[in-house]
Amino acid sequence: MKTKEKVLNLLKSNSNSYVSGQEIAESLFMTRAAVWKAIKALREDGHEIEAVNNKGYCLISPTEALSELKIRELLPINIKDINLYIHDEVTSTNDVARNNYYEGAGENFVVISDCQTKGRGRHGRVFYSPKGTGLYISFATTPNTDLKEGSLLVAMTSVAVSRAISDVTGIETKIKWVNDIFLDDKKVAGILTEAVTSYEAATIECAIIGIGINLYEPQGGFPDEIKKKAGALLETYDLNKSFKNELAAAVIKRFYEYYSKRDKEFIKEYRERSNLLGNYVKIAPVGGLKEADRDYKGYAIVKAIDDDCHLMVEYEDGRSVTLTSGEVSVVKY
Ligand code: BTN
Repeated sequence: MKTKEKVLNLLKSNSNSYVSGQEIAESLFMTRAAVWKAIKALREDGHEIEAVNNKGYCLISPTEALSELKIRELLPINIKDINLYIHDEVTSTNDVARNNYYEGAGENFVVISDCQTKGRGRHGRVFYSPKGTGLYISFATTPNTDLKEGSLLVAMTSVAVSRAISDVTGIETKIKWVNDIFLDDKKVAGILTEAVTSYEAATIECAIIGIGINLYEPQGGFPDEIKKKAGALLETYDLNKSFKNELAAAVIKRFYEYYSKRDKEFIKEYRERSNLLGNYVKIAPVGGLKEADRDYKGYAIVKAIDDDCHLMVEYEDGRSVTLTSGEVSVVKY
């Protein structure tokens, strides 16, 4: 075990109380200078450690804090200098990103928060975003793309997020069309894209792509309204295995990796990560379909995902339909 981990464990076992540098040094058989070095390294890793004269050190936050230093250190060289706006609490990272964009923050930047008081989901839903147990990130991008390609941007982000989760935790998640990330039958992450559009040119001036990932189950579990559907990557929080900053860096890295190419290569991976292909689904009413298809109450089997990330389904009565947007839920296997 590394020195800093030993110091962290000692502080954890004395949580909310102060331990002097001398006490740490004596119990871990190290010098005071080594203790100080370990405390510095832990702070750089994002741990909040308070130091008070004549009292010593105290681990303030039981969960890992976001650290710009740590995140930046993990980014590849080509994006190391990307603009990062890191917050403890915001209303919604999408709101902050939009405001920053209007205030001239530039073309490409990232907003990250440890908590959101007004986290938004798709279709006007609330996205539960408590402190310490999740990661909330928004990318502001100026893709200069046709509006119809906006949905590809979302699908591409789903692949980037699923891949980043796998890079950092080894956990393989699945994508539910179009932009929900699932672990088994629970949703562990969601993506909400909001566009600042240029109406006349029918292009996206700025796309704000917001990602919410549930890292750990909140203490006391998820609220009743969402507890049947919501899940987390890990059941319980373990400070020693904390990966919030690593995951933030991995999401940023993967996002820009796909975004810089902006080709349709990712769709192959999208299909591989899909939890719908070959399964029966129930379709929530969606636009863009003929009325008879829209109001269909039965099940449909998912046959394919086309190169525009549209869902190609076949109803039980044999009709084939291509869904360009909307929501489906898996009903039986
Ligand atoms: C959904 O599941 O319907 C989409 C959820 C998107 C949540 C993220 S968290 C970061 C960004 N800020 C928000 O208010 N929403 C998105």
